[in-house]
Amino acid sequence: TSLTRFVDRLPIPPTAHAAGKRAHPAYPDRMLPYYRMEMRAFKARLHRDLPATPLWGYSGLSPGPTIDTMRGEPLLIDWVNALPTQHFLPIDHNLHGAERSQPEVRVVTHVHGARVPAASDGYPEDGYAPGHSALYHYPSAQDAATLWYHDHAMGITRLNIYAGLFGTFIVRDAEEQALGLPSGDFDLPLILCDRLIAKDGQLYYPVSDDPSAPWVTECHGNAVLCNGKLYPYLDVEPRRYRLRLINVANTSFFDLSLSHEVPFKQIGSDQGLLPVPLTRSRIELYPAERADVVVDFSDMAGQSVQLHHRSEAIMEFRVHDHERRDTSALPATLRSIKRIDPASAVRDRVLTLGELDDANGNAMAMLLGGKRWSDPVTEDPRQNSIETWSFVNLTGDAHPIHLHLVRFQVIDRRPFDLFAWNADRTLKFTGPAQLPPPHEAGWKDTVRADPGMVTRIAMHFEGEPGRYVWHCHFLEHEDNDMMRPYQLLPEQT
Ligand code: C2O
Ligand code: CU
Repeated sequence: TSLTRFVDRLPIPPTAHAAGKRAHPAYPDRMLPYYRMEMRAFKARLHRDLPATPLWGYSGLSPGPTIDTMRGEPLLIDWVNALPTQHFLPIDHNLHGAERSQPEVRVVTHVHGARVPAASDGYPEDGYAPGHSALYHYPSAQDAATLWYHDHAMGITRLNIYAGLFGTFIVRDAEEQALGLPSGDFDLPLILCDRLIAKDGQLYYPVSDDPSAPWVTECHGNAVLCNGKLYPYLDVEPRRYRLRLINVANTSFFDLSLSHEVPFKQIGSDQGLLPVPLTRSRIELYPAERADVVVDFSDMAGQSVQLHHRSEAIMEFRVHDHERRDTSALPATLRSIKRIDPASAVRDRVLTLGELDDANGNAMAMLLGGKRWSDPVTEDPRQNSIETWSFVNLTGDAHPIHLHLVRFQVIDRRPFDLFAWNADRTLKFTGPAQLPPPHEAGWKDTVRADPGMVTRIAMHFEGEPGRYVWHCHFLEHEDNDMMRPYQLLPEQT
């Protein structure tokens, strides 16, 4: 685009403040902080030279306020739907859950990566209309990590998130704090998404050629928003910063690098710290993936450093020369992560990623395990058991696969023979298994399942029994059947 670069300051989402304390039956002897998050329509300038853009956001902001909590500090959030009753983006009423019989505007919020009881997980079919709200409970019984919250309403998640319904949810813990990593003003979320933005500032969401079925398989923007701004800049001190990179885009992945050969020191992935910091010149993030990085600007005083997505500069860090003393640390080791032994799994589930085409070969729906959302539950792990899931990708594209409730480890990716599979469903490997690179060897909750490969993950199903979901995090796919319920069964006694 022709917009002047780096004229708007990077917004830092405000930290959400509890509105008070409330009792909750799960904690008879304590009161929990209570937050109220109201989803509203508002307008914001995405760039100095653009008219204000109509958006939807939590507390009238996009990204919404950052929720910041400690491990072991449960909290309550009242998610209030104060949106208009009509959507401003094109609904496809053919999609499951988005039928004309449904209220046009529905929301339900999920905290991505949080281990929460099913009733507070934001089950897609629990969407509710304007004028209603849902009080959810977050136990925060999990390791420090950069999580994020977003809408998850059945059949319109892609539109609700595109409209702006997302924000950061940070869990901290004492072990991580003891490392002395950059903190406070030097620890910032950087939330990235792309959008199609017209000259008048309006958001544009792509539609198919068929007005009766507007759904599209992918949505790619013409510009990248960083914390809700186009091409912003940030004044920084010549010292270390911790940046929590989050990809909240519908379908686009980001290929990030810094100018002047400034490296990223990646310290964390989706579910918290890696074992050791990794020096990386490029970071690729698929939708919903996170990378926690430390960037050291101390050698760059008086200069500016650009953040690039591919070859495009999407934001600028302006490094001042005045320095306050940097007392932060970047330790050589961060935490130990015990590898899950795949042999300890009670079960390996082989699950295909596929596409249902019409007679012309156009995708009509995206499927998991050959099934639609409305088919009976087939994934029913037992509480506290270990399972491996093998994603057999039958399509031509990579898909970011996400499981609610649990964190997992990537075991390997292995090429297989698609013709043998299509002929009689035999899994014939055509090459050796590839271990995940070090940046994918920590705890994850979203994994890129590459085409032509079987991607295998292992997880320990800790959490409360109930109905959760797993899905592709390409939001267009998720909304068109590439999402399945799963049932966590009570532990066998
Ligand atoms: Cu980030 Cu089920 O979602
Ligand atoms: Cu997909």
